[in-house]
Amino acid sequence: MKIAIDGTAASGKGTLAKRLAECLGCDYLDTGLLYRAVALEALRYGLSSLDDNFNDPLTKKLFEKSTRIELTTIALGLALPIADSPDLRSQKISSLAAIVASLPEIRQALIEKQRNFANSPPSKKGAVLDGRDIGSVILPEADFKFFIDAKPEIRAKRRFAEFKDTNSNQKQETILKDLIERDKRDSTRQIAPLKLLTDAFFIDSSSLNADEVLQIALNYING
Ligand code: CDP
Repeated sequence: MKIAIDGTAASGKGTLAKRLAECLGCDYLDTGLLYRAVALEALRYGLSSLDDNFNDPLTKKLFEKSTRIELTTIALGLALPIADSPDLRSQKISSLAAIVASLPEIRQALIEKQRNFANSPPSKKGAVLDGRDIGSVILPEADFKFFIDAKPEIRAKRRFAEFKDTNSNQKQETILKDLIERDKRDSTRQIAPLKLLTDAFFIDSSSLNADEVLQIALNYING
């Protein structure tokens, strides 16, 4: 079984994906982590600014090349130590992830790896993938597709609470601004934009807790 979950930033799609995978005995792949890992590598290569001035051909070339080199290692390691990096979920990496995610070369390099995971999941039972282009590009043939959204203010509040748990001192207004900016970038980019597909089941999680979202998704799957 293949389940595709797409949606806006901090909408609760990751929580749903993880819990669905647990309930169904499937494997879960957080595809956002791949782009975050690439972004972290980009920072290590010295791309310290979030300015995506890709009009400079040299910057673009060096940047794409360097990130591509690391992709194999990252994809092979998937949720290995890099996933534990405290920087990975930071605001800076979130914004940079959205920038690297709009580069066609990066997306292309990751497509096959994500499909392979879904086609041969370790559990052999199935896979739940969450991201932005899972239902549209990675697994258009998925058995079930979901699109998760919530009001921006509510998403910012939830992300703020998550950050607080990790002792981050991010302000809620800054988080809100970042989410809105990222959603805009993710849904207006040329390649694999985030969009609500006609064959996806839409859940607005604004007034729902994680258990309620899970129940709605399970009811849909069980018909
Ligand atoms: O957890 P959150 O919703 O904030 O973000 P994420 O799922 O970890 O994704 C971080 C960024 O990676 C997104 O804003 C997208 O730009 C990009 N991404 C993507 O383009 N395609 C995916 N399948 C997953 C993430």
